[in-house]
Amino acid sequence: MSQVLVASNRGPVSFSLSEDGELTMRRGGGGLVSGLAAVTGAPRDPGPPRPAATSTPSAHRPDVLWVCASLGEADRTAARRSSDGRLDQAGYDTGGAAVRMLDIPADTFQRAYNAVANSTLWFIHHLLYDTPRRPHFDARARRDWQSYEAYNAAFADALARDAAHGAKAMIQDYHLSLAPRMLRDRRPDLRIAHFSHTPWAPPDYYRLLPDDMGAQVLRGILGADHAGFLTERWASAFLDCCELLPGARIDRVARTVTIAGHTTHVGVHGLGVDGPALRQRAARQDVVERAHALREQVGDRQLIVRIDRTELSKNIVRGLAAYREMLVNHPEWRGRVVHLAFAYPSRYDLAEYREYTASVQQMAEQITEEFGTADWEPLIVQVNDDYPRSLAAYGLADVLLVNPIRDGMNLVAKEGPVLSEQGCALVLSREAGAASELSGDALMVNPYDVSQTAETLHQALLMPRAERAERCARLTAAATALPPQRWFADQLAALD
Ligand code: G6P
Repeated sequence: MSQVLVASNRGPVSFSLSEDGELTMRRGGGGLVSGLAAVTGAPRDPGPPRPAATSTPSAHRPDVLWVCASLGEADRTAARRSSDGRLDQAGYDTGGAAVRMLDIPADTFQRAYNAVANSTLWFIHHLLYDTPRRPHFDARARRDWQSYEAYNAAFADALARDAAHGAKAMIQDYHLSLAPRMLRDRRPDLRIAHFSHTPWAPPDYYRLLPDDMGAQVLRGILGADHAGFLTERWASAFLDCCELLPGARIDRVARTVTIAGHTTHVGVHGLGVDGPALRQRAARQDVVERAHALREQVGDRQLIVRIDRTELSKNIVRGLAAYREMLVNHPEWRGRVVHLAFAYPSRYDLAEYREYTASVQQMAEQITEEFGTADWEPLIVQVNDDYPRSLAAYGLADVLLVNPIRDGMNLVAKEGPVLSEQGCALVLSREAGAASELSGDALMVNPYDVSQTAETLHQALLMPRAERAERCARLTAAATALPPQRWFADQLAALD
């Protein structure tokens, strides 16, 4: 029985299975996992895949139990090979975290994760629909929704079973928006928090959801005692959407929503970077070696860096188009700058993501063909995920480009300045949550305005070194003000 439980779709580790049935394990990706790993003692570094089983798991923190889903067949195998999914107890080295990995049936998981969470709720909160064509809520969407309910219920059941009397359950993100209410129904003694790591849609856009689904999501989160968001903007959009719920009483000053006799507090908890831990990691040999290799490749040219998972919300194609326009309008940069774009694979099960990845590649080829010369490679795109190489690139960047269409926070905008060796200029989308903390020292852009982004990249390259360093120091201070430990502790405290 645990006093503190964390629930999220993606857990701290994931598995792959070789042909001979051997499991290898690696850390899960994404901002949510990085943040939570810092507080639960799970491995923070994706590192190389390593053999999964060890007879000497490191001492775990039995006070925090992390409940997550099996994301694929290998995860399900690992979950089945352990007693009821308790990976730590089965001898897997989860780096100190107590982890229960749920063995959810593959088709239920696929519909809940791909069709509802990533193709519907993610699209709603990031305003990604091409509305003349999509969304299109038909009988199939209803069936997918039932799987989403079943998936949320599986989490609620596990949490209800593992929680000590009066325990705190910290439920994460849009995958699990129904779970807080389901858990409250099962265990009214618990204190429940929900946290949204994404933006929240404005009401006019939220209303694209069928009324019953939209209400169910809101009511689901309102099953929690505390609903957390990364910025004021997302929190107030949530309150605006709650106005759509018949019978809900919203107090804007106290930031509470009361419905059917239960009150939920809405809180803002920005998530920042653990500066010392990140710097320590970046000082390791594998990062130093990659930094040397990158420096050799780029020479003494200026470096524009971007690092993203290839998600529709990251706006990589317009970012590349902006770089192209800058090279057209300011030919003096040709031969003097290199754009390093790390676009790591993400959600490849979804057709839109595969198509988007293809457009990124197409745009990249066009730039290379148009401007490349025998002794200058204007653009280097890397798609294989290499964490130490990303850290090395942060260190060397003269300009960091972070231009999402919309983003809950965006930790790249925070990690980059922290690791920058000589100070980098940050070109940042005003639609990223990080804008609320960093806009004073970043160069802000409208992510849809390619020409403005091009001009801002040009200004960033021209920024004098001293000014870059000064701005970067202030960006670093802001980025490290709310490390994950504090983010988590504040939410626990909010439940007292
Ligand atoms: C990003 C978002 C999180 C989300 C995660 C899911 O990190 O900021 O809100 O939980 O993506 O990514 P996944 O790879 O698990 O689909």
